[in-house]
Amino acid sequence: MQLPFDGAISSFFETKAPKDVRDTIRRAEKGDILSSSYPHGEKLARKVYEKEMAALQIELVKMQAWVKSSGSRVVIVFEGRDASGKGGTIKRFRENLNPRGAAVVALPAPSDAEKSQWYFQRYIDHLPSGGQITFFDRSWYNRGVVEKVFGFCTDEERERFFRQTIPFERALVDDGIHLFKLWLNVGQAEQLNRFLSREQDPLKHWKLSWIDVEGLKKWDEYSDAIQDTLQRTHSKITPWTVVRSDDKRRARLAAIRAVLHQLDYDLKDTKALGKIDKSICGGPEIWN
Ligand code: ADP
Ligand code: MLT
Repeated sequence: MQLPFDGAISSFFETKAPKDVRDTIRRAEKGDILSSSYPHGEKLARKVYEKEMAALQIELVKMQAWVKSSGSRVVIVFEGRDASGKGGTIKRFRENLNPRGAAVVALPAPSDAEKSQWYFQRYIDHLPSGGQITFFDRSWYNRGVVEKVFGFCTDEERERFFRQTIPFERALVDDGIHLFKLWLNVGQAEQLNRFLSREQDPLKHWKLSWIDVEGLKKWDEYSDAIQDTLQRTHSKITPWTVVRSDDKRRARLAAIRAVLHQLDYDLKDTKALGKIDKSICGGPEIWN
């Protein structure tokens, strides 16, 4: 089977990737974490992960039952660079939920009609009704990051976005929506390594796009845009939760815990929930 983009990712790896990133990937052994600043030396063992995840799955089911019985509305926004693990984390959240009340919203690039509308309009169409949980796999935050990096919006449009975001989100919260904003943070070597394995695996080709390929050259531009976005859209009522996702297993557990800890659902078992690992899950100050 032909590789997508004619092997553009392996070619970037061979010729353009920063030397330290290339060396880290070459030297890596199974179970290694590819970010030197990650607070754990090795990936979480599968057995530990499976046990903790099984307990969290039960809590998620209870949470959904409470959402239904109380008519609550929950919105969970997933952001992060390409290959940071948004899709995989959403998949674990929804694994044992009734899909009817747990929609995933992953909007394509805006159409011409959508471009002529208020920027937030097409997202509003997908907000939950009572009893529903909505997972946004990327969101209005495209304007803060990818649209900036690729020049899909003007500086003026981006400034307007920053003026409107906190008031928009506050309106959702004020209306009673439980809003969570999760930022998955992946290091450069881990991201590139994930892209390399996507390129090798026909089942994962759909996850690759030209944005990913071109984005490889724009690591620093992404970093600036992300930092800016986190700073300007973090507020007491609409805070970011940053999850370091170099270890997918720890990241998924942390993301689920971060949400469940903040909801008062019936029959909540705090002990089963377990503690949040604050070294990989916190506010924008843990993003780097
Ligand atoms: P994904 O990470 O969801 O697989 P991509 O990496 O291809 O998708 O694109 C990242 C984001 O950029 C997507 O949300 C996509 O809708 C958005 N995007 C792509 N092209 C444009 C465009 N021309 N204008 C605005 N947004 C765009
Ligand atoms: C992720 O893994 O973060 C996304 O779901 C897929 C991608 O954008 O590469």
